[in-house]
Amino acid sequence: MPYTIAVLPGDGIGPEVVAEGVKVLRAVGERAGRDFELLWGVVGGAAIDQYGTALPPETYALCERADAILVGACGGPKWDDPRAEVRPEQALFALRKGFDLFANLRPVRVFPALVGVSPLKAQVIEGVDLLIVRELTGGLYFGRPSRRWEEEGERRAIDTLPYSEHEICRVLQVAIRLARTRRRKVTSVDKANVLWTSRLWREIATEMAAANPDVQVEHVLVDAMAMHLLRRPRDFDVIVTENMFGDILSDEASLLAGSLGMLPSASINEGPKGLYEPVHGTAPDIAGQQKANPLGTILSVAMLLRFSLGLAAEADAVELAVERVLSAGYRTADIYEEGAVLVSTEQMGTLVAEAVRRGTQGR
Ligand code: IPM
Ligand code: MN
Repeated sequence: MPYTIAVLPGDGIGPEVVAEGVKVLRAVGERAGRDFELLWGVVGGAAIDQYGTALPPETYALCERADAILVGACGGPKWDDPRAEVRPEQALFALRKGFDLFANLRPVRVFPALVGVSPLKAQVIEGVDLLIVRELTGGLYFGRPSRRWEEEGERRAIDTLPYSEHEICRVLQVAIRLARTRRRKVTSVDKANVLWTSRLWREIATEMAAANPDVQVEHVLVDAMAMHLLRRPRDFDVIVTENMFGDILSDEASLLAGSLGMLPSASINEGPKGLYEPVHGTAPDIAGQQKANPLGTILSVAMLLRFSLGLAAEADAVELAVERVLSAGYRTADIYEEGAVLVSTEQMGTLVAEAVRRGTQGR
């Protein structure tokens, strides 16, 4: 039986980076003698243009059939009217919520070859290896009421930040479980000095820490975390936090890796089906120019192999291939340094696919 993967390229640079992710997936398939059946779906702004909705039922049905979902990016200036009711990003929210993908894993690793790319000092970022676990189906993103209206001659808007014990518990559980496969340290990030949701979060995290004494759990306020992440990033192993804080901290953390283009993500729950996408957006300014970095998507494919298909060796092979291509000096524009070889999106994907095919030979 072949593995079935829903592939949703989306908007902007999405199609370009997804093409390279698929290229690498095929290389993995050849090497491992596995078949991948790809179900291509329309999503985001592209779907709004074609179907009037960001996530057409046809696309959702493909995702239901699939073992895993690979997404490029959704959004762009064309659909950015702040008053629009239909928005490309709604596709992401509907997929996250629809499949109950409550844990968003965003690993941030500094590849040795890229230490010089970050604006931060080498001595600060060398050896960084952390994992942000972002709660993905609760909080401000889904809280109701959430709307805009006019009252007494002025414009008003509201968003709501709700969390339940169940929602907090299950994502903390994922963080603790993953910490056990790493350095056994969890940093729980909140704003407990201001928010009731954060105080509940901290209360539950404290109880879970007591019940899981083999994992060290610390609590850090989100504003302080924003600073510590840049000042002493090596001190962190697993960082777990609510939806919006995780969104913000993960973009910040991309500075460590050199570029947002390097970061992959996996959105999972307790089951095998997951959604995999680069952390970056649609980058409309460089779309269609073969300038985008496909490594965030390619590393997302590695996570897909590991978490949804149970192909750990294949996932390792992809990550190793990326490391080798970077060590050999190949760079897309966002991670370019003097003396490196500047390559296009397509060339980068081909280089990684070739390195996967070569496997451990010639190491
Ligand atoms: C992300 C993105 C999305 C989010 C946007 C595109 C809605 O920024 O996945 O981090 O905020 O979740
Ligand atoms: Mn984001």
